[in-house]
Amino acid sequence: MNKKDYSDVCKKHLQDNDEKDTSIHDEEEPIEPDEQDQLEMQEEEEEEKEEWEEEEEEEEEEKGLNHDDSVKDHKPEIAEGGKERAGEKKEDREQEQKSEEPILTAPETVKVVHEQVPEPTEQEGGVAEHGQEQNQEAQIERREEKEEDRQVKEDEEKEREEEEEEKLSIVHEQEVEEVKKVDVIDRKVIEKDVIERSIKERKEEKIEEKIEEKAEESDPIENIDLKKEVERAEKTIRKHIRETPADHSPFFSREGDCNVYLKLENLQLTGSFKLRGTMNKLLSLSKKEKKTILITASSGNHGAAFAYGVKKLGLRGIIYLPGHTSQAKVDALKYYDVVLKFFGTDCVKTEEHAIKEAVKNSFKYIPPYNDLKIIGGHGTIGIELKRQVERIDAVLVPVGGGGLISGVAGYLKSLDEKIEIIGCQPKNSAVMYESIKAGKILEMESLPTLSDGSAGGIEQGAITFNICKKYVDNFILVSEEEIKEAMKLILEKHFMLIEGAGALSVASFLKAKERFKGKNVVLIISGSKLTLDTLRDVISSGAQENA
Ligand SMILES: Cc1ncc(COP(=O)(O)O)c(C=O)c1O
Repeated sequence: MNKKDYSDVCKKHLQDNDEKDTSIHDEEEPIEPDEQDQLEMQEEEEEEKEEWEEEEEEEEEEKGLNHDDSVKDHKPEIAEGGKERAGEKKEDREQEQKSEEPILTAPETVKVVHEQVPEPTEQEGGVAEHGQEQNQEAQIERREEKEEDRQVKEDEEKEREEEEEEKLSIVHEQEVEEVKKVDVIDRKVIEKDVIERSIKERKEEKIEEKIEEKAEESDPIENIDLKKEVERAEKTIRKHIRETPADHSPFFSREGDCNVYLKLENLQLTGSFKLRGTMNKLLSLSKKEKKTILITASSGNHGAAFAYGVKKLGLRGIIYLPGHTSQAKVDALKYYDVVLKFFGTDCVKTEEHAIKEAVKNSFKYIPPYNDLKIIGGHGTIGIELKRQVERIDAVLVPVGGGGLISGVAGYLKSLDEKIEIIGCQPKNSAVMYESIKAGKILEMESLPTLSDGSAGGIEQGAITFNICKKYVDNFILVSEEEIKEAMKLILEKHFMLIEGAGALSVASFLKAKERFKGKNVVLIISGSKLTLDTLRDVISSGAQENA
C-alpha cells in the first residue's frame, strides 16, 4: 500500500468512528458485551490512527525542514522532539492540544498537515526513514566536507608555513653564504694585505741590500789602502818625475800671519802634477797592455803628460781633442810621437768617444783622474811634502775631477788625520763641491773660467767622489777676479807664471787667510800652462787698477 491509499483508508475509517463515538458519549448508556468488543476495537483503531498521525507529523516535519533551509540547524532538536512526542501518552497529547491549539477534528488535523507538505512522489520513495537516513548522510557528508575543508585549510596553512620556512632557510643560507663571501673577501683582503706587506718588506730589504752593495761598489776606498798605493807609486815613478820644491812664501805668510809653503808643481816635467799620475799608470800597465795602442782625451795637462810618458816609455798612443782646441795647445803636443784626433766640441763628448773607440778597437784607455794608479801617482806629492815641511796643518789643493786631492789627502790623512785638507774650486765650475753637498755626483754645466784646467764634470761612479767625501775637510770657492789676483801676485811676488787652475789654492788662501793664522799651510801650485792671451788679460787688469 502506498502512502496516499493508506491515508484515504484512514480518513474513511475515522469518519465512521466519529459518527459512532459522538452518539455513544452523548447517550451515556451502559455498555453491552458486543458493544464492549466494539469499543475495544474502536480504541485500537484510535491508537493506530494516533500512531499514523504521529508518523505523518514527523514525516511532514522532516520534509518541511528539508524544504526550508532556514531551519536546517534546528533539525536535530525537531527530530529528537519528534521521538519524545512519539513516546508520550495519548492523554497528555490530547490535553496539550486542548490547551494550546484550536480544537480540530482528526480529519481536519490530517488535512492541515497534508496541505503544508507536498505529496511525495513515487520516485522520492515517500518513506520517512529513508529521508532521515539521507539527512543523516547529508549531515555526515557536510561534516566530512567541513572536516575535509578544515583539513585542506590546515594542509594549505602547513604548506604555507613550510614554504615560508623554506624561504627563510633559503634567505638564511644566502645570508650565511654572504657572510662566508664577506669572510672570504675579508680573508682575501687580509691575505692580500699580508702578501703586499711582505712583498713591500722584501722589496725594501732588497733595496737596502742593493744600496749597501752600491755603497760598497761606489765606496771601494774601504778596501783601498791609499797610503800603500802612494808609496808604491813613489817607487814606480820616482826616477821619471821631479821632486818639486815646497818654497816658503814670506809674502803670503805675512798676509796670513802664518807659514805658507808653495808646492811648485808648475815646475814639474810637462808643466803640471799630471805627470805623476799618468806616469804611474803607464808604468803599471802589463806587458801585453804596453804593446797595445793607448788612448786618451785631453787638450790640457793630462794630454801633455800622456804624450810625454808614451814617448818616454816607447809606447804607442792616440789623443782625442775637441775640434775647437787652440793651435798653441795642438802645437805643444806635436813634439811628442802621439797621434792627434779631433772629435766634437765638448770635452765630455770627446772623452766619451775616446772610451768607445778603446772598447771598439781593444785599445787601452788611460783616464785623466778616475783611476787608482793616477791617484796614487798624484799622492807622491804628499810623500815629498812630508819630507819638505816640518809640520803640516793644512793643505790647499785645486780640484777638478778630484784625482790630485784624492792622492794627497789619502796619503797625508793616513799619516795624520788632523792635517786639514781643503778643496779649492772656481765658483764657475764647482762640480765636486756641489756633488758632495748633494750627496751624489751631479751633472751640471760649468761657466767659463780662468781655471780651465780644473773645469768640467765628474764621471758617474768616479772613485774620487767618495775619497773626497771622506777626506776633504772643507771647500773654498773663488771668483774669477780672485783667481786673476792670485795669478798676478804669484807673478809679482814669486816671479812665476802659473795657470788659472794652479792659482786656485793661492786665491783660496787669500780669501780665508784669517783662519790659517799661526799655522803651517801648504798651497799646491798645480800647473803652469798659461797662454799669452790670458797673461795679457791678467797683466792688463792689474795695470788698469794701478793706473
Ligand atoms: C793645473 C791643474 N790643476 C788642477 C787640476 C785638477 O786636477 P784633478 O782633476 O785631479 O782634480 C788639473 C786638472 O787637469 C790641472 O790641470
